[in-house]
Amino acid sequence: MALRYILKEDDKQLYKVSREVKNFDGRLHTLLDDMRETLLDADGVGLAAPQVGVLRRAVIVVDTNREELSPEEQIIELVNPVIVAVEGEQEGAEGCLSVPGVYGIVKRPEKVTVRAFDRFGNEFEVTGEGLTARAFCHEIDHLDGHIFKEFASRILTPEELDEMYGDDEDENAEDSVE
Ligand code: CO
Repeated sequence: MALRYILKEDDKQLYKVSREVKNFDGRLHTLLDDMRETLLDADGVGLAAPQVGVLRRAVIVVDTNREELSPEEQIIELVNPVIVAVEGEQEGAEGCLSVPGVYGIVKRPEKVTVRAFDRFGNEFEVTGEGLTARAFCHEIDHLDGHIFKEFASRILTPEELDEMYGDDEDENAEDSVE
């Protein structure tokens, strides 16, 4: 496994549409393993393949609804993910590992069901609520070349950031989506 460099918002790759994964092979597994390591290292909630410069439809999301699991076990791998159902609404702060230090208010569904394939090509469905639902939407947007800032009603000011996150680093990690 290896850490991969996370592209920043000025990189054109982030605005391209990623292609479907067709081969569930060792190359995909290495990509997903590296993405896992990179996400855990960055202490984020999700990461999309285009963020590490690979224009393929693969994302990983931390299932924050399952706190009984270790961080590694909480990671859900979604290959060729499609949102099949949404419910409710939430409005809150969202950030991105490609846009460090910037948070915007984004409206998302409260509950999101995704149909995807695992790394071996088996189809499955998973439902996430709250932050996990937000992360599903955010990461799938990356696959279509979209960054959360496009959907933000406004960007938080430094004063608001201070108020929200203050000097508590852990809280910061809880509330950010990548
Ligand atoms: Co992001």
